[in-house]
Parts: sequence; C-alpha cells; structure tokens
Amino acid sequence: MPGFERFGKEERKEVQDVLDTGVLFRYGFDSARGGLWKAKSFEAEFAKRIGVAHCHLCSSGTSALSIALTSCGVGAGDEVILPPFTFIATIEAVLNAGAVPIFAEIDETLCLDPEAIEAVITPRTMAVLPVHMCGSMGRIDRIKAFCDKKGLILIEDACQAVGATLNGKAAGTFGDMGCFSFDPVKTITCGEGGAVVTDNKELHTTAEAYADHGHDHVGEDRGREGHLFLGNNFRISELNAAVGLAQLRKLNSILKKQRAHKKAIKDALAKVLGLTFRDLRDEKGDSATFLSFFLPDEITARQAAEDLGKAGVDGCFYWYDNNWHYLRMWDHLKALRSLAKLPVRLSEHCPDYQQLSLPRSDEIISRTLSLQIKLSWTKKEVSQRTDKILNVMRDLC
Ligand SMILES: Cc1ncc(COP(=O)(O)O)c(C=O)c1O
Repeated sequence: MPGFERFGKEERKEVQDVLDTGVLFRYGFDSARGGLWKAKSFEAEFAKRIGVAHCHLCSSGTSALSIALTSCGVGAGDEVILPPFTFIATIEAVLNAGAVPIFAEIDETLCLDPEAIEAVITPRTMAVLPVHMCGSMGRIDRIKAFCDKKGLILIEDACQAVGATLNGKAAGTFGDMGCFSFDPVKTITCGEGGAVVTDNKELHTTAEAYADHGHDHVGEDRGREGHLFLGNNFRISELNAAVGLAQLRKLNSILKKQRAHKKAIKDALAKVLGLTFRDLRDEKGDSATFLSFFLPDEITARQAAEDLGKAGVDGCFYWYDNNWHYLRMWDHLKALRSLAKLPVRLSEHCPDYQQLSLPRSDEIISRTLSLQIKLSWTKKEVSQRTDKILNVMRDLC
C-alpha cells in the first residue's frame, strides 16, 4: 500500500510551491499565495477522480471519521454498528463522539456482513460504519440498501481502500459520507492526512466548518468569519496537501502496478489445494494493496505465517495475533481504558466488551493471511517471492 515508494520530483515541486509562497495555512492569505491552493486543488481533483460531489481534506483518517460522525449528528448514546476487523481509530472516533460502538460479525469478504448488522440493531442504532479493509469492499451495496430501508446513517471507513471500486462505483461514495486516510503507509500519502467525501452539499459545508472550529468560511477576512457551532481543529496544512496532490496524480499508475503484482502471485497460489482466497465481490475493483487468503484452520495459518517469515517473505500479516487490526488483542478497548471517563460509560446500554463473542469473525480471521503488495518489486523479485510462497504453501497444504 505504500505511495511513499513513489516519491519524486513531482512531490518536491508541489512542496516547493508552498514554501515559495510562505503560506502554509489552507485558508485565506489570498494575495500572498499567488493563486496556489494545494488543499483545495486536492479536494477538487480527488472528488472528480472518485466521482463524488464534495471532498474535504483534513489532518488524518481518524479526524475524517470524527468529522463524518459529528456532521451526521451521531453523538451521546447513539449506537454505531461496526466490524471487529479494522484499525482502532474507527472505534476511537465513535467513542470520542460520545457514541457506543456495537460490533457485528464479518464475512469472507473480510468486511461487515450485511446479515449480521440486522442481528445487533436496536432502537438506539443511529449509524452503520463498515470498514473496507485491506484495499477492497465487502457487500456494501447490500449494506446501503439495508441502511436506506431502516433509515440509518451510513458512513464508510475507506481509509485503506482509496482507488477501490465495486462495479465501477468508488469506495467511500456509497454512504452519506466516506472517509479516507493518507497517512504515511497508505496507497497515496500526504505524510499525514485524510478526507471526508459526500454528495450532500449541506453535510459537506457542515464538515468543513466543524473541522475548523465551526468557522463559516464566508468572506475574505478570517477575523470576521461567523461561528456556526463549536468545532475542532482537524485542518491539514498546505505542505501535507501538496505532497498528497502529487501522489493523487500517481494513483492510477500505483493501482496498475499493485494489481499486476498481486495477480502474478495470486495466479500461482491458485494451484495450491486447500488454500482459498478472500471473497472479492469485484476482483477488478480491488485496489490490490494486499493479497488475502484462507488456510484450512488456525494451526495451519499460524504455521504458514511463521514459515513465510523464515523463508524471507516479508509483509505477511496473520491478523488473529496482530495487535493493530483485530479486536481479539485490544485489551485497552475491552476494558474501556481511557485517560478521562468516556461518555459511553454513562450509557445504561454500554456493552460489556470483555464478554463480547464474535465466533464467526474469530473463525475467519484465525485462518486468514494477508500478503502486502509493494510497488518497487522488479519482475524478478515478484517471481522469486512467488516461488518462496509456493514452496511454503505446498509443504503445508
Ligand atoms: C481502517 C482504518 N481506519 C482509520 C484509520 C486511521 O487513519 P489515520 O492513520 O490517517 O488517522 C486507519 C489507519 O491505518 C485505518 O486502517
């Protein structure tokens, strides 16, 4: 997933532009900036690229989630349904909004199972927050239909899925709002950055204001701007936006390379009996940041991860034991360990996260391995890597 592998003169030029003007702030300073608006340019180009009406570029994927939740009116006591396979940021954003995270099972798409949402819905459910993990979407069309039917807000965590599509429609554009991350290890990066996209003009205006202390951004004199409501500072700097702008213009070539590398390895692995692949609803729309597959059981999967490591295959993730992306290892979350009392604790419906049981997700994740796809590999490196992976898998399966 690493856009940083592609840094070059384009990023340097965009950053130099900003340094030459001396304007690092994304708003105002109209005459000093000489017509250069890096954040605004990114927003216009990104919205066009993914086919959505509005984009707001902000400081991180985490802040994008907070902006989206608050802009959609999710707050104290509201329940938000989300998957246990994600990054902790998704859950932190819900907790920081004062809302209650409610976990539902995933399926073999490695994303939220639409049927499982129904099983945990309550009168307090306000929103559904599916996460497009490892570069691809699950059954988001079904989830969207379900949310429409039930009148629920749909916010997509597309932080790991920039460039992914389902039948031609981009990740992040199915729901009321979509959130992206451009942190240092994402497909394209701003250094740190994120984006909130929507087709709803009102939500976009609210999001822009909320991410900048509630300023209405009316008129050219910042000192005279009105305050619509209390907000936050989730602004991106022009320097970060400049890096992202250069990276965005490379997105198509990055995706092409990732897809070619993934295909070469996947075609070879398809011959291994006993190994099956992640359920991709639209293989062509996979952004191909990872190749994810299932082993027959937990013991074999854990052994495969160990053997791949010993064989020198780096970038292999066994999520079940990984303490970054699966609920099982998040003791701090299960105990709701925080610095100050979280509003969720005040809710009479606060779940006991220690007792949470998600057997289907455990069963799937305990058999899942994901191999990271890099851009910088040569053809020879891809082929050597494929041979190493095949050797390990043939011995095991
Ligand atoms: C699924 C998911 N959501 C949210 C985030 C948060 O993004 P950021 O690191 O830009 O805050 C990440 C980051 O890795 C992520 O993977």
